[in-house]
Amino acid sequence: MKVLVINGPNLNLLGTREPEIYGSSTLSDIQQNVEGLLSQAGFSCDFFQSNAEHEIVEKIQAAISNTAFIIINPAAFTHTSVAIRDALAAVAVPFIEIHLSNPHARESFRRHSYLSDIAEGVIAGFGENSYYLACEAVIKRLQHPKKC
Ligand code: DQA
Repeated sequence: MKVLVINGPNLNLLGTREPEIYGSSTLSDIQQNVEGLLSQAGFSCDFFQSNAEHEIVEKIQAAISNTAFIIINPAAFTHTSVAIRDALAAVAVPFIEIHLSNPHARESFRRHSYLSDIAEGVIAGFGENSYYLACEAVIKRLQHPKKC
């Protein structure tokens, strides 16, 4: 079973991008840890980053045939993208929205998400651990669908 992990714009700059907000790990550090957690549990992982909205929409559309769960950090598209929301609603693959920072503790424009109300859950504010907590939630959900 495959888990798709989608990363939105500017997350390719993790490590050097505003480390006081986003931490000092790179996206490739996070990718290695995510792949490790998922593979230990017997799941394969497709870890994807794009700065382009249409590429993220296309990735979500392609997930309809082969993906059990999506973990998505939509980055700035969280607050702007009806297109990403519509793609997630169209494929109906369950997803968790994640953020490194806590958008509710930042500028007011970050408080609205186009995705949260159709997500299975939202994990935010734990730095890179938001990714690992999401992996844990996905693994539990896929292994014991009725219990959690
Ligand atoms: C982010 C929060 C967003 O508001 C911001 O635009 C990002 C990163 C986070 O992971 O904390 O690019 O999604």
